[in-house]
Amino acid sequence: MQHLAMISDGDAGVVIENSGAPSNPIDAFEGIVGESARMQKVFRLVERVADSDSTILINGETGTGKGLIAHAIHKQSYRKDQPFVSINCGAIAENLLESELFGHLKGAFTGATANKVGKFEAANGGTIFLDEIGDMSQDLQVKILKVLEERCFEPVGSCKTVTVNVRIVAATHRDLEEEVQKGNFREDLFYRLFVIPIALPSLRERRSDIPHFVTHFLDCLNKTKKTQVTTISDEALNAMMQHAWPGNVRELANLMERMVVIKGEGEIEVNDLPAKMKNQTSTDSFCAPDITADGLCLSTAVSEFEKQLIYQSLEKTKWVKNRAAQLLQVKRTTLVEKIKRYELQRCA
Ligand SMILES: Nc1ncnc2c1ncn2[C@@H]1O[C@H](COP(=O)(O)OP(=O)(O)OP(=O)(O)O)[C@@H](O)[C@H]1O
Ligand SMILES: [Mg+2]
Repeated sequence: MQHLAMISDGDAGVVIENSGAPSNPIDAFEGIVGESARMQKVFRLVERVADSDSTILINGETGTGKGLIAHAIHKQSYRKDQPFVSINCGAIAENLLESELFGHLKGAFTGATANKVGKFEAANGGTIFLDEIGDMSQDLQVKILKVLEERCFEPVGSCKTVTVNVRIVAATHRDLEEEVQKGNFREDLFYRLFVIPIALPSLRERRSDIPHFVTHFLDCLNKTKKTQVTTISDEALNAMMQHAWPGNVRELANLMERMVVIKGEGEIEVNDLPAKMKNQTSTDSFCAPDITADGLCLSTAVSEFEKQLIYQSLEKTKWVKNRAAQLLQVKRTTLVEKIKRYELQRCA
């Protein structure tokens, strides 16, 4: 995988856990891939704000790792030995959400056969992660606002106020500012949440991480699936580098699992990729890798860029070299020499 060297720069939605304390700060990011400058910035921000107890709003497209980062914030904070309670506000039936969050008293509504402790109370001392907060109803937005302001609430069917000590981390894939403008999200709640925003980049904004993800998922999958898929061809990796990844890391993780399980051993080749991805070698443009503090090899990066452009021109001209040379405004002999040097071949 030549790219590794080249880009080495840079129950219905509720989970409760008592996280074990990591022995040092780095453990908070264990298993989180992020060599790119954009992700390194996110990690440094998490380190700075984790202990502050300030409310954090994580924003990012689906599959960018919002859940992982929320967990990392908790693991990095002084609350790490206390519960981390996660609730997906978009995945719980509207009529149950209030009871899930604040608990209820026996008999408060049909089906409430016993008292129930809500997630806010369960998270006492620790962190509550309000995932997909942009998908909450207006009614609940009012109730959440009160907890954010006063850290107290009344369980459904009770008039007794419960006070809790919780750190709030929220996440959404929506543009909450836009939702406020549209009248879907309360402005006062927005400003309560928008204390420390953390924006997670999409995978296409940090393509230099793709080779690291590939290595990471190969390692993990070979262990869990008992396979021996050890590497990926340059051509396959090139195609993956150019894909738009609308499903971000989740899409990449699922694709890696599919390919590793089906392949079982050896090298992932371009033919193992989905058809739409294979074709991208010729249609999309190459994206510049990020330059991290470690730097990057300019001549290798430039060669890779040149290789991509030559390949693209050849595909566009059905490998008629005269025409490809014209497109690139070089002599045919120059083009032929470069095709040899880069060992470019037409895919079957
Ligand atoms: N930086 C990363 N390193 C390793 N794995 C990652 C990373 N980011 C995401 N993943 C993996 O990708 C998948 C999606 O991550 P996660 O659920 O945290 O994303 P999300 O932003 O919360 O998505 P959604 O908005 O759909 O809930 C998970 O399996 C997660 O482990
Ligand atoms: Mg999520």
